[in-house]
Amino acid sequence: MPGHVDDILDRVDSCKSQYVDDLCGWLRMASIGTDPAFTPEVRKAASWLKQRFDSMGISAELIETAGHPIVYAETPPVPGAPTVLVYGHYDVQPPDPLDLWTSPPFEPVIRDQKVYARGATDDKGQVLTHVLSCEAWLKARGKLPLQIKYLIEGEEESGSKGLNEFLSGKYDGKGPTVKERLASDICVISDNCQYGPGKPAITYGLRGLAYYEIHITGPNRDLHSGAFGGTVRNPVNALCQMLAALHDAEGRVAVPGFYDDVIPLTERERNEYRKLGFDESEFRKNLGIAAEHGESGYTSIERRWGRPTFDINGIWGGYTGEGAKTVLPARASAKFSFRLVPDQDPEKITRLVERRLRELCPPGVTMELVDMHGARGVLVPLDNRFVEPAARAIAGGFGKSPVFIRSGGTIPVVGYFKQLLDIDTLLLGWGQDDDNPHSPNEKFSLEDYHRGIRTSVALWQELADVKSPR
Ligand code: BES
Ligand code: MN
Ligand code: MN
Repeated sequence: MPGHVDDILDRVDSCKSQYVDDLCGWLRMASIGTDPAFTPEVRKAASWLKQRFDSMGISAELIETAGHPIVYAETPPVPGAPTVLVYGHYDVQPPDPLDLWTSPPFEPVIRDQKVYARGATDDKGQVLTHVLSCEAWLKARGKLPLQIKYLIEGEEESGSKGLNEFLSGKYDGKGPTVKERLASDICVISDNCQYGPGKPAITYGLRGLAYYEIHITGPNRDLHSGAFGGTVRNPVNALCQMLAALHDAEGRVAVPGFYDDVIPLTERERNEYRKLGFDESEFRKNLGIAAEHGESGYTSIERRWGRPTFDINGIWGGYTGEGAKTVLPARASAKFSFRLVPDQDPEKITRLVERRLRELCPPGVTMELVDMHGARGVLVPLDNRFVEPAARAIAGGFGKSPVFIRSGGTIPVVGYFKQLLDIDTLLLGWGQDDDNPHSPNEKFSLEDYHRGIRTSVALWQELADVKSPR
């Protein structure tokens, strides 16, 4: 029988407005990790979190990296109880396009019981649930039932370079190794979504990512398209042809070998997903599209959760200003990426994609391919002994048992933790699919925020009751 946490939940319920103020304060810091102009704001957001831990009596530090610092905090070890690693990120995506925001992205406002601001759901709001639950435990009981190690980075949205260097860093021979320091029994991450409003979920799969930039170069200068058109290869035309050739007519990725390592969706999974009752027409209506689109033979859910994709993320070249300009441009570029699924390896995908693009690159232009970043997809085994306790905590906090879903997004660190620390991750997302992360008008439901905090309070007890074999 797990110990009760009602006294802590009462405390949490009486602090709701303070929790909202806390979140809004953090959201005011424009921690746009990719934009060097915002580096001071990024640091402010990191220091804010460190101070928040300090004020709770938990020693926290800023671990410096070549990029933005990692905020690391640790509660005291609890013999016999497991240790939990909580990961999240305090960096946010750029807010552009600004004119599509109803209210400024770094001036949080509450409308309709939702807080609107960049980072509200991705990931400050979700991170804070696990910090505030810890504070509530400490205030009510003076100690936690297990040890928590918090690792909150500032470069998730830009490829986690500093974190990777920290995790794989050369050991300086002093003190514990990174592996010893982070040693844990399970990782908890809230940086994703529920299945729907009032439909909490445990996410057991994430897609991976392979992201590139390509530059196509033709003549040594822009040319008059009348004087030269039809005699000189146009780099923008060439780029469009090359990228278009990466899809076949069935919506599959047309790169030889691309599907070799894909773990297929099982019949059991496909059955479970059908039971979720996904409404395709609601999906179309919500997005303002006339038809869904993707790989033949799969539903939208299957395409998003369990199948790899190819998308052009941006493409430029030639004249894009006002009016018409008859130019044959000298250069063209694009950013494009593949969502991967287990067991595709991003490095292998890079070799396959580069080989295919070199074959497709026509005479008269040259190409340069830049590998931006990659991450593996993951599947979390549902028989992990922490899954059931987490489901109980969610049932308590949300008043409803979770469904088991996958997600199409990518959280690279889940794969690294498995490799380095040999631990699985509980992906407990409190967000909603329509929270607009990475888009204008990002939001987070206050109801989900408070339920997330309540669930987190119960989670520490539930996980503590799983005896640690370490
Ligand atoms: N929180 C997201 C990942 C996510 C979103 C997972 C929705 C599940 C559901 C994360 O901050 C993110 O945006 N990840 C990037 C990848 C990263 C390597 C830039 C992504 O998925 O595009
Ligand atoms: Mn995120
Ligand atoms: Mn994100």
